[in-house]
Amino acid sequence: MDIPWVSIGRISDFEGKVVELRGWLSNKRSSGKVAFLIIRDGSGFIQGTAFVGDFFTKDQLDEIKRIPIESSVLIQGKVRREERAPGGYELEISSFQLVFPSEEYPIQKMEHSVDYLMERRHLWLRSKKQNALLRIRNVVMMSIHEFLQSEGFILLDSPILTPAACEGTSTLFELQYFDIGKAYLSQSGQLYMEAGAAAFGKVYCLAPTFRAEKSKTRRHLTEFWMLEPEVAYYDWQDNMVLQEKLVSFIVNQALKKCQNELEILERDTTPLQKIQPPFPRISYTEAIEVLKKKGSPAQWGDDFGGDEETMISEDFDRPVFIHHYPAHIKAFYMQPDPENPTMVLNDDLIAPEGYGEIIGGSERIHDLALLEKRLEEHHLPREAFEWYLDLRRYGTVPHSGFGLGVERTVAWIAGVKHIREAIPFPRQIYRIYP
Ligand code: 4AD
Ligand code: MG
Repeated sequence: MDIPWVSIGRISDFEGKVVELRGWLSNKRSSGKVAFLIIRDGSGFIQGTAFVGDFFTKDQLDEIKRIPIESSVLIQGKVRREERAPGGYELEISSFQLVFPSEEYPIQKMEHSVDYLMERRHLWLRSKKQNALLRIRNVVMMSIHEFLQSEGFILLDSPILTPAACEGTSTLFELQYFDIGKAYLSQSGQLYMEAGAAAFGKVYCLAPTFRAEKSKTRRHLTEFWMLEPEVAYYDWQDNMVLQEKLVSFIVNQALKKCQNELEILERDTTPLQKIQPPFPRISYTEAIEVLKKKGSPAQWGDDFGGDEETMISEDFDRPVFIHHYPAHIKAFYMQPDPENPTMVLNDDLIAPEGYGEIIGGSERIHDLALLEKRLEEHHLPREAFEWYLDLRRYGTVPHSGFGLGVERTVAWIAGVKHIREAIPFPRQIYRIYP
């Protein structure tokens, strides 16, 4: 009889059957004539038991007990329902084959510092919590595509090598581009998405983004992934409706598909269950009032940092939109409010529980003369933006879009404090290894 090779994640389909697992020995303990082996195969973890008896002699069992953890192994055995076992199933091992022995594994059960673990990120990925966290990231990524595709959006990939700044010149990574001169790693695909919106109506990119941010906070990476949708004929309010629908969809998918992962991470999911439209909306000026009442030194005209965002968000059980920021603290492309042009038609979406800004969005300037003026005021090189100005010359329309930070969103949903764990290989100002 052929013994099927199955993955631990699907083990419940094989109750009572003999199966083969191909994976690694993640942990082990033994007492006398029994060895308890924790096997992982990437899709999950399961405990297997091996006894002296029908399948193993005492010598064979002693040999199994000596196998170092993280050795690669092939295991066969019968799947048994076991309420008390993590995951609900156990394996009665009937055959055990060492594929390759591991050297002494540098990550042990004891507490290691995050620095120690980050230095070994390539191995740390194998651990239960990291595995759960990055599975949640996978579901977040797939949910983004699922939602936007169902709303009629086209995935339009943005370039990474770019001739100009989008989000300010102070955080650009620069490189020499052959004989042409300087090029930069993309800070945002937005400008290209604006071209896309005029060509396809509704577009998005989901791509790596680079910021030479000097900040060492738990919310900043130098390389992060951003989702950027852009829609022709959307105003800033249509834009917020899209954002709250998208964020609610992502959270609900994670709750539905990542129950086990959220449990492993000990995430209290009660706050996540409240996430559904509509999200509260307050203006920047109202936000300043709230901050002052709470004793913050923030003054009108200041940009918000993590502390201010947390103070504002703690009044709400859902993400909160802050709209109408002062124009001078925001990017050059944002559309001024026609009723008060010192403010822009933008929004930042602040996640609950202190996770801070997960989205920045706005209506874009569609008027050629105004955009030319803004480029000048921001000392941006006009030559690099000629193509962008063209979009205002040939059939310009009001349009809006936003950027959602993938790692911040994953960290919030998973309930991990620092976004460095929400990406497989984080890049920070003091880390580029491994
Ligand atoms: O607010 P930001 O800078 O907006 C833009 O880049 C716009 N061009 C987006 C658009 O309208 N198409 O960045 C958007 C989001 C932030 O809200 C945050 O979630 C994330 O990107 N983000 C970062 N995430 C990790 N590390 C960093 N250094 C980040 N900077 C921004
Ligand atoms: Mg922002």
